[in-house]
Amino acid sequence: MGVTSEQVAAGQAVYTKRTLGAYDFVVLGVSNRFIWKCRTPRLVDHYNRHITPNHLDVGVGTGYFLDHCSMAAPAPRIALMDLNQSTLDFASRRIARYKPEAYLRNVLEPIPLDAAKFDSVGINYLLHCVPSSIESKAAAFDHLKALMNPGAVLFGSTLLHGGVSRNGAAKRLMDFYNKKGIFSNRHDHLDGLKEALGRRFRDVSVEVVGCAALFSARV
Ligand SMILES: C[S@@+](CC[C@H](N)C(=O)[O-])C[C@H]1O[C@@H](n2cnc3c(N)ncnc32)[C@H](O)[C@@H]1O
Repeated sequence: MGVTSEQVAAGQAVYTKRTLGAYDFVVLGVSNRFIWKCRTPRLVDHYNRHITPNHLDVGVGTGYFLDHCSMAAPAPRIALMDLNQSTLDFASRRIARYKPEAYLRNVLEPIPLDAAKFDSVGINYLLHCVPSSIESKAAAFDHLKALMNPGAVLFGSTLLHGGVSRNGAAKRLMDFYNKKGIFSNRHDHLDGLKEALGRRFRDVSVEVVGCAALFSARV
């Protein structure tokens, strides 16, 4: 399945200063609870379980999870990576207390980075925004693996089309977002996600909560 630069751009274009101002309420407040049936505190808990004091977050949105999770160290190294400068700016301001590094990069391409490697990488709600099938979007796993120290953990969650139970509202909203290019998860199935992680990482764990698959995997 070929990917155009327009499709890649569409997966991040919706995140402007204005929409980011509403994101926490609309997505993390209303949609997670009532539509995707995976409450935001469950995702914060996933961060708390896996984040380390040497962390890279990719597809940062508003930076909500970095702001709300528990950091084990008072001065962690936090790096932000996104294809969208508005999200990088928004999240950087929000967690300015950690003096984050910020990198404008496309996760679907090899990622040149002249910086020390990371012990944890978070990709929450990123994969359902990037185009094509799980097999081809899993190129992101390879690109991120190259930035991780031995034993580092990749974790996050993604909304799936197949292998999860979706209520009527979830089906309608996913279809709408897919038509707009905001989501690209029509071909995303739980089995494909497990296989793509299993081929690249060890200690793979995938748990379904509502429409979301919460995963973690080690280099
Ligand atoms: C749904 S938001 C998730 C935000 C946040 N992680 C959360 O869970 O609330 C998706 C994020 O992925 C970013 N993104 C989309 N496509 C990308 C790509 N190809 N490379 C890097 N970031 C991308 C968007 O700009 C946006 O910040």
